[in-house]
Amino acid sequence: MNLYIVTGTTKGLGKALAEGIGASSENELIALSRAPEQPIPAGTQLEVDLASAQAVEEVFDRIEQRIRGKRFAKAVLINNAGVVSPVGPIERADAAELERNLFVNLVAPMLIMRRFLRATEGIALLRRIINISSGAGRKPIAGWAAYCAAKAGLDMASRAVALDFEASHKPVEIVSLAPGVIDTPMQGVVRSATAADFPDIERFKQMKADGTLRPAAEVAADILRLEAAGKLKGEPVADLRQLLS
Ligand SMILES: NC(=O)c1ccc[n+]([C@@H]2O[C@H](COP(=O)([O-])OP(=O)(O)OC[C@H]3O[C@@H](n4cnc5c(N)ncnc54)[C@H](OP(=O)(O)O)[C@@H]3O)[C@@H](O)[C@H]2O)c1
Repeated sequence: MNLYIVTGTTKGLGKALAEGIGASSENELIALSRAPEQPIPAGTQLEVDLASAQAVEEVFDRIEQRIRGKRFAKAVLINNAGVVSPVGPIERADAAELERNLFVNLVAPMLIMRRFLRATEGIALLRRIINISSGAGRKPIAGWAAYCAAKAGLDMASRAVALDFEASHKPVEIVSLAPGVIDTPMQGVVRSATAADFPDIERFKQMKADGTLRPAAEVAADILRLEAAGKLKGEPVADLRQLLS
């Protein structure tokens, strides 16, 4: 059996990833989102607000109980949950929203990596961490200071964790993966900004109009196919579009 833990599965890319993982009887899926606890195909949905450190710790206490005594061929963490808001010049940003962005996009994934690595030590032959990053972490975008900074931080955290495991020779693979532009509710949030807050808005509206946003199910299938084939290892900072080309 393979263990998958995926965050942010209520919509967008995370929902599509959970559906893809849940379609195989070889997989056990633990989905982490703000939806109520319930059984899902191949596993369970656990409720957690990823803006709270305490909630992250508590949900991982429960995950540890669930997987205690089990053995897996591989354990895969996909830190997918993300939030783009606040959009606009930093001086106009709501302070709490700015803090929440950095927490959900950067602090929570780091806390989750920490607990995932502790919880799966010795119970899986191979462990993989896929942090869903963004091109915005590699190229600044006006109006997106928090999102760009958080994703850049996620890239650098992934590079540092990769070095930890390079030194230890443990079978742990980590990648911070920019998935390209995807037709999800997040893109709707992006297009709902004003030009004053987000100068690049026309380009994003045009991408939607031109049909260049990829369906979430296609992107999820690509990520899961490359993961299953062991093709996400190597460079800890990667771009899905380049891996597919
Ligand atoms: N869409 C793109 O073009 C694009 C491009 C590059 C990178 N990405 C990245 O891809 C990932 C998925 O994005 P998406 O486009 O699918 O976004 P989305 O449609 O907005 O979905 C985001 C997911 O994250 C969850 N989430 C947000 N805040 C949360 C919190 N406090 N606690 C628990 N869950 C929370 C949402 O849950 P709720 O329903 O509870 O809000 C939702 O399930 C993100 O990391 C994003 O940065 C997306």
